[in-house]
Amino acid sequence: MNPLPVSQRSLDGRLRHLLTLEGLPASMLESLLDAAEVMVPQSMSGTGLRDRLAGRTVCTLFFEPSTRTRGSFHLAATRLGADVLGFDVHASSTKKGETALDTMRTLEAMGVDCFVVRHADDGAVAELAAGARPETSFINAGDGRNAHPTQGLLDMLTLRQRKGPDFSQLKVLIVGDVRHSRVARSDLHALRTLGVGEIRVCAPASLLPDGDALDGCRVIDSLDEALYRVDAVMMLRLQRERMEEGLVPSLESYFADYGLDARRLGLAAPDAVVMHPGPMNRGVEISDEVADGPQSAILQQVGNGVAVRMAILQALLG
Ligand code: NCD
Repeated sequence: MNPLPVSQRSLDGRLRHLLTLEGLPASMLESLLDAAEVMVPQSMSGTGLRDRLAGRTVCTLFFEPSTRTRGSFHLAATRLGADVLGFDVHASSTKKGETALDTMRTLEAMGVDCFVVRHADDGAVAELAAGARPETSFINAGDGRNAHPTQGLLDMLTLRQRKGPDFSQLKVLIVGDVRHSRVARSDLHALRTLGVGEIRVCAPASLLPDGDALDGCRVIDSLDEALYRVDAVMMLRLQRERMEEGLVPSLESYFADYGLDARRLGLAAPDAVVMHPGPMNRGVEISDEVADGPQSAILQQVGNGVAVRMAILQALLG
């Protein structure tokens, strides 16, 4: 990835923006995870922390669809007592041709302190941050294929809750459309920084990324082989909206080769945890019985999303 047009840390090392997990030290990731863990009870009850960000304003600026990320940021900001401005791109002047930069500056002029932004283009959130006032914070809620740092953090929190804080003995497998996945990129950054023992990746060659994204990973073509004794399996959605035609022959053949079903899960360690960032394509990358089964942490991930986003908002604005 190109260098960021703004630094996400200030001169004293504090986080100003959260644009990517790449380059953040393990100590910073761990203290964000610790802060999130402590907030889990309040993230669920919605009470107890409503004075933390009173008087601050958070705007969710989503140029792409979202259920989990936008909803959990909205709740996270509300549960910390911030005012939340939800910007719906489909009912806005974006439809009249206003640029993302002008939209952001317009909302900034209303007193927004922090933008949570999702955009289809790689690097778009960092570009907006570079065009904002110096005191305005930005959180990347997913830019193109590039990064989704809060998803990376909530995945690490879930892994830590299921497997304990020492990642050095863990074997983690990432399966599916790594090529188009900002989630996979952020997970890879975090897993490496937190010292995971072994990272395996399994995908058809057409869905592997170019460049150095998989440095240090074992790429294994056969899913049966890749699953052998892994402690965690991170499934990815087949991102058909970002895909050129013909990258996979058919959804049926994709499931036959790369879908996770109960037989295959039996090849992993007996207590292996199954994760998926959602939204799932049931029957394409994961079967119902695995998605809804006892080893699935998929809804735990969703719940952790609120606590992680509270911890990030607190770190940037508190
Ligand atoms: C992901 C996203 O939009 O990057 N979803 C999410 O935020 N949980 C993954 C996806 O769309 O497949």
